[in-house]
Amino acid sequence: MPHSSYALDDIRLSDWDFWLKPHEERAAAFAFLRKHHPIAFFEEGETSMPVAGPGYWAVTRHADVLQASLNPQIFSSAQGIIVTDTPPDTRDVFGSMIVMDDPRHKRLRGLVSQAFTPRHLRKVSAEVQLTARRVVNAVIERGSCDFVSDIAAPFPIQIICDMLGIPASQHDFVFERTNILLGGADPEYGVTDLMERYMASIQAARDLFQLMDEMRQERLRQPTDDLTSALVYAELDGDRLTVEELGSFFVLLTAAGNETTRNAIAHGVRLLDEHPEQRRLWQSDFAAYAKTAIEEIVRYASPVVYMRRTALCDTELGDQQLREGEKVLMFYTSANRDEAVFDDPDTFDISRTKNDHVGFGAGPHFCLGANLARREMEVMFRELFERLPDLHVTGEPERLKHSFINGIKHMPCAFTPGPVVA
Ligand code: HEM
Repeated sequence: MPHSSYALDDIRLSDWDFWLKPHEERAAAFAFLRKHHPIAFFEEGETSMPVAGPGYWAVTRHADVLQASLNPQIFSSAQGIIVTDTPPDTRDVFGSMIVMDDPRHKRLRGLVSQAFTPRHLRKVSAEVQLTARRVVNAVIERGSCDFVSDIAAPFPIQIICDMLGIPASQHDFVFERTNILLGGADPEYGVTDLMERYMASIQAARDLFQLMDEMRQERLRQPTDDLTSALVYAELDGDRLTVEELGSFFVLLTAAGNETTRNAIAHGVRLLDEHPEQRRLWQSDFAAYAKTAIEEIVRYASPVVYMRRTALCDTELGDQQLREGEKVLMFYTSANRDEAVFDDPDTFDISRTKNDHVGFGAGPHFCLGANLARREMEVMFRELFERLPDLHVTGEPERLKHSFINGIKHMPCAFTPGPVVA
């Protein structure tokens, strides 16, 4: 739809229908908002169920998203990072550092950052390579697969599970729970009734919490060389993570490290399929383009659509007056296409060098797993180019019904079969 034919009322960010529109239509709606209503108020609707609140401001320009992200003393994360408030009775499992402000956030980030050391990431790097090989081995003789459920989905979750030292026998358990946790309104990932779905996601988080508690007790009896041990023993000024902090961080990691990278990789394959000249360019010299290509996939696909903040006082954002307590949704998906910041923002260009995207957020909550995600993407695309060089999408990607995660549920693809390698 051309921008000029829009009116603000035509854009219904709170309806599921909007989030199932083709990507280009969504992008056109956000371009209209950036130009004419950069901070627009929307009433809450279907996407806020089961507890719709009073509404939110949709922030769509890059500069305003940065302004909110970099001023946590005004724009708080503590009331929740999705449109619906984090219910107080679920804070034990959903109350990790992503929904905290300083000083609690600073303390927790300081503690867990000790476990995300370069040493740990180096150790994980070798595992990432092995996992990519294993995942591709599982399909390579078949000549076709569902790219999401066979490759993009199992890959990051196996890495997180290995990092944390979760035994292989529990990987499916963790995988299923994270799908329920982040499944949103999609009936395939949960029960159809809204309230039941909501309760199921709380239960899934509690199951993960319980698993972490068992692992914590084992590590206290006998330390191991994994991230869980590093977290259990991490110390800052004589202070350690509490049981609740550890459990909710585990829930955050399994969710944040799973769904995001999966969709970044799936969108990457989709985008390269839709832009064969970009694919040829990257394949012509993998190392030369890897860094810029990965950032461009994250910018263009924006796997996390938005994060929320809540105004702690009456304030101003852009030219808009906000009142204390109002919700602010920072639409990364829009900021990442802002023509004031990016040349030809709607062009997918893997050689883009000036790319200040906010796909990993900005400010004190900047993605803790960004380097791991980049590493995972690099390893997987190299593996695909080397072993499935003619991989192509054979059917319409099936989208996840979600307003927070830009997800692909299924994507049929085909390739010339090849040999399993050790
Ligand atoms: C392409 C993949 C990824 C994307 C697009 C992504 C995106 C984001 C974004 C936008 C935030 C900012 C939250 C905010 O400002 O409120 C964030 C935070 C976070 N991410 Fe990621 N993420 C990805 C991968 C990962 C991975 C692999 C992990 C862990 C293994 C991870 C762990 C986290 C954590 C723990 C936070 C919270 C940090 C804090 O509150 O200080 N993410 N991520």
